[in-house]
Amino acid sequence: MQTQIDEILAAINSYEAQNKEQLEGFKTAYTGKKGVLTELFDQMKTLPADQRKDFGQRVNQLKEAAQLKLKTLTEQIENAQLANVSKPHDLTLPTIPATYGAIHPLTHTRERIVQIFERMGFNLSDGPEVEDDWHNFTALNFPPNHPARDMQDTFFITKGTANDIALRTHTSSVQVRVMESQRPPMRTISIGRVYRNEAISARAHCIFHQVEGFYIDKNVGFKDLKDTLYHFAKEMFGKETKIRLRPSYFPFTEPSAELDISCFICGGKGCNVCKYSGWVEIGGCGMIDPNVMKSSNIDPDQYTGFAFGMGIERITMLRYQIKDLRLFTENDVRFLKQFDGTL
Ligand code: PHE
Repeated sequence: MQTQIDEILAAINSYEAQNKEQLEGFKTAYTGKKGVLTELFDQMKTLPADQRKDFGQRVNQLKEAAQLKLKTLTEQIENAQLANVSKPHDLTLPTIPATYGAIHPLTHTRERIVQIFERMGFNLSDGPEVEDDWHNFTALNFPPNHPARDMQDTFFITKGTANDIALRTHTSSVQVRVMESQRPPMRTISIGRVYRNEAISARAHCIFHQVEGFYIDKNVGFKDLKDTLYHFAKEMFGKETKIRLRPSYFPFTEPSAELDISCFICGGKGCNVCKYSGWVEIGGCGMIDPNVMKSSNIDPDQYTGFAFGMGIERITMLRYQIKDLRLFTENDVRFLKQFDGTL
C-alpha cells in the first residue's frame, strides 16, 4: 500500500504539462472525480478501523501534493500564454502566402457550353440524378429488352418493379421531363452528372457529365441541327473547326448521327489524339423520334425537333489535351492549379 502511494506521489511530482490538454490530463488522472485520489478514498472505507487512520493521513498528504502540483502547472501554462501574447510581432517577417482555389476544368467547360447555347436562345433545364425507368428509358422509346437497361450498364436502386429506379444513364431523361411539363416551342439544354456501370480507366468512368440539348417547334429540320452543332463547334474549338455527322442509332432519334469534329490539335492532318483519322467524336444527335413526342403528348404531325448529347469530360479533355479521365475526380491540387485562368 505504502509503495503504491509513493509511486503515485513520484508520478505527480514529475508530471509536466506543456499545454491545456496535458493539464486536463493531470486532472483526469489524479484530482478529478474519477481520478486516483477518489479511488484511494474509496479504498479507505473498506479497510479495518486500525489501518484507516494511517492510510487516511497518507492519502491526504497525497491529495495536498496533487493540489499543489495542479496549481503550479496551471500557473505555468497561464504564464506561458501571457508571455506569448505580449511578445511583439516581428513586422519584418514575410507573410504566409495566400493560396487561391481554382475553378475545376469541367466547370470551365460547362460554363462555356452554357454561354454558347444561351446566345443561340437555349435556356437551362434541370432534372434529378436518381431517375425512374419511364424518364430514362421507356419514354425515350427504349424497347423493353434494350441492352442499356441491363445491370451491366445501369446502376439500379430498385429493380423488378413496373417503374424501376436507377441512377440516370444520360441527361436525355431531362428532355422527357421538359417535354412533359412545357409546350413547344422549346429550346433547352441540360447539363449534369450521369452514371454507367463501367470499369474506371483512363478513357472510361462510372460517373461523368453530359450536356443534352433539344429544340422542338414547327418546321425544325435536320439542317437546323447541323447549323446549331457547327456553330457550337466553332465557338468551342475555334473558327477553323469542321463537323462531321456519321449515321448511327439511338432509340429516341430518327435519323440519328454521331457527331465528330475535325481534330483541331493537328488541323486534320492526323495525330495521336484523333488516332490519325483527323476526326474526334464528341457526342450523338438526331431528329426526335415521333414516339418520344407522343409519350409526352406532343403531336409529331404538327411539331418536329432535334436533340443532341455530348460528353463534358470528352470536350474538356480535347480542349486542354488531358489524357486521363481519372484526373477529373482525383482532386489533385497540382492538376487543378493549372486551370486558374478565366474562361
Ligand atoms: N443520350 C445519348 C447518349 O447518352 C446521346 C444523345 C442525345 C443522342 C440526344 C442523340 C440525341 O449517348
